[in-house]
Amino acid sequence: MIAMTFRDVILSLGRAEVEPEDVRVHTRVTKGREMKIPFVSSPMDTVTESEMAIALARHGGLGVLHRNCTVEEQCEMAKRVKKAEALIIRDVVTVTPSTTIAEALGLMQKHEISGLPVVDRDRLVGILTGRDVRFADPSLKVDNLMTRKVITAREGITIEEAKELLHTYRIEKLPIIDVDGRLSGLITIKDMILRGRFPDATRDDEGGLLCAAAISPFDLHRARELDRYVDILVIDVAHFHNVKVFEASKRLMKEVNAEVVVGNIGTFKAAEEAITKLENPAAFRVGIGSGSICSTTMVTRAGAPTLFATCEVADAVRQYRAGIPIIADGGIRGPGDIAVALAAGASTVMIGNLFARCKEAPGTLLTIGGRHYKQYRGMGSPSARAKRYALDRYSTPAKGLPEGVEGWVPYKGEVASVLQELLAGLQAAMGYAGAATISDLWEKSMFLMISQYGEAEASPHDILLPSETERA
Ligand code: XMP
Repeated sequence: MIAMTFRDVILSLGRAEVEPEDVRVHTRVTKGREMKIPFVSSPMDTVTESEMAIALARHGGLGVLHRNCTVEEQCEMAKRVKKAEALIIRDVVTVTPSTTIAEALGLMQKHEISGLPVVDRDRLVGILTGRDVRFADPSLKVDNLMTRKVITAREGITIEEAKELLHTYRIEKLPIIDVDGRLSGLITIKDMILRGRFPDATRDDEGGLLCAAAISPFDLHRARELDRYVDILVIDVAHFHNVKVFEASKRLMKEVNAEVVVGNIGTFKAAEEAITKLENPAAFRVGIGSGSICSTTMVTRAGAPTLFATCEVADAVRQYRAGIPIIADGGIRGPGDIAVALAAGASTVMIGNLFARCKEAPGTLLTIGGRHYKQYRGMGSPSARAKRYALDRYSTPAKGLPEGVEGWVPYKGEVASVLQELLAGLQAAMGYAGAATISDLWEKSMFLMISQYGEAEASPHDILLPSETERA
């Protein structure tokens, strides 16, 4: 068998019936969730925390929150993603009529909000806005200054109806009241405006941003806690096809409501077993050892390069008519690799390195000789392992074997511009392959094997590039 990698192949050309800008790349990330662009970020502590997850979901992709932290920290990240743009805010910050204006101002500042519903034993009795308190005596009570006549809406209100009310009454906040007259949520004009700015966002059923988080199959507590906030749980182990991992995942999948992504797997046999023995896996995360920070294959001489793994798992999914989307994970260096991964049968790609370069990634920024870099490290690298929370992703702690490296990647600014570049390149690649959509690409594309000489010819050659002239 040949362990095909991204560098071994190019896409054959096809008859193009649409121009690249008309190529559509909408896809499914799991059985139940669609996205406008096929990009998912890696659950790594130098790639995905809330900021990255929010930015990616707003632009039509998805972030997977890393788990190299406490359960509480990971849940906080998930809450932040959900709060970023919910149509209806559920955990509304409120005051009572007897709260002082000083306290109310403190709450507004702390939560960065401009108005507070006033409740008395769960009943809405007024609303306090920034305008009400602007020049007020801080020792007064909310009761003295709140607006008593509040425009409210019932549960089940649509976006359009909410917009209409906000506009008609020129208000910024619309409290939602349940059948018993209790305050059950809040719609704000700020969130409405954000929704308009990101029409392609990946959203949950309530209109909030879709959120995914990494878990260990052996940590049921973490899974249960996160299950309260996220839509997708991603089992995050380097080798899923392991009896203990398999059994623990089977148990865990019965305990949670979220969709569960299974991975990483790399062979037909692993996919076959997951399809036939697990209850409803939502997607397969595939590829072992191709990541830019991976040293697994180098250390162990074992692995399943992402392209090879995608082909294997796609075969199994097709053979069993399982309809399970594939997330091709690791080794993506640019749009060409993405096109190849999708052509092999993936529905999305998972990216670490290219996103670690962005402003929204949590890693620290460093300047060397006027150039900016961001920190990037494998989750099996010595410093990531030192944090210990994600140790079980790789070999047991007793082995103490680092399976990743750490270093620096060039800083690329906002992830939105990186996404645009990747998208334009992917559309161009699909245009050459004659595919108008991802499913078209699955049907029409063919790989051509390319030799090392061919790879050199396929890259710029026989010319000194500016960076090299500087060195020459
Ligand atoms: P890229 O190529 O985008 O790959 O940087 C990111 C993926 O690499 C995996 N990953 C690791 N694999 N040792 C490994 O063998 C590690 O320390 C490590 N950390 C991350 C992971 O699948 C990620 O999505």
